[in-house]
Amino acid sequence: MNRRYRKTIIAGNWKMNNTLTQTKAFAEEIKPIMPRGKWCNVVLCVPATNIQAAVRLFKDCHIAIGAETCHYEEKGAYTGEITAAMIKDAGAKYVIIGHSERRQYYNETDFTVNKKVHAAIEAGLIPIVCVGESLEQRELGVTMELIAYQVKCALAGVAPEKVRHIVIAYEPLWAIGTGKTATAEQAGEVCQAIRTVIRKQYGAHVARSVTIQYGGSMNAKNAAELLAQPDVDGGLIGGASLKPEDFVQIIHAANQE
Ligand code: 13P
Repeated sequence: MNRRYRKTIIAGNWKMNNTLTQTKAFAEEIKPIMPRGKWCNVVLCVPATNIQAAVRLFKDCHIAIGAETCHYEEKGAYTGEITAAMIKDAGAKYVIIGHSERRQYYNETDFTVNKKVHAAIEAGLIPIVCVGESLEQRELGVTMELIAYQVKCALAGVAPEKVRHIVIAYEPLWAIGTGKTATAEQAGEVCQAIRTVIRKQYGAHVARSVTIQYGGSMNAKNAAELLAQPDVDGGLIGGASLKPEDFVQIIHAANQE
């Protein structure tokens, strides 16, 4: 973390979990234990059906709400999809774009990720752009090239003053939902490489303002060590964000001096 230049953001990604009733129960559980007046920003990215209610439920405890994906068109015949403007209108502030599960199961490509980033910015949302390598790619030694490619594609055509406010999440595929976390060194190394890519494209001023998160089996136990890396500015948390106590522990880790 480096709070001098950029925001620390702890974001939960609920994926396809939690009904409205469960969302209400989660809010009641987290409210009394939520740390206040500290440095890190907290976000929960929730299923689309919960966005509107979540905005209201989590307002008191200063948790901003995000969506888990959006479509890149402004409107049209895309059954089942929702636009960035709809998400914004429902009160959300963030949207996850290019999560590896979307890339894997819903044919999301670097090309559509780029279009979605533009759509999100246009609608006034902050995109949380996910990048990451598979185990095979890591073993082949192409992690850095691949990540640089993904970052460049995602940000292509975005103005530097907009890039400053984007969040990038480094999520190695082999660490997602596996309980196998990247070491702090591995996470730090790739997050630093992402910042270097941004620096080369957009300059030092933009690069140092971008929040770069780590995601992949981050939990109450390993959060502090990961967040101690200078280029790891937060976390994108799946499983552990479904349990209020665990999520709060991670927020505490991000609030340490
Ligand atoms: P887990 O924390 O469950 O590994 O999920 C990480 C993730 O995919 C967050 O987007």
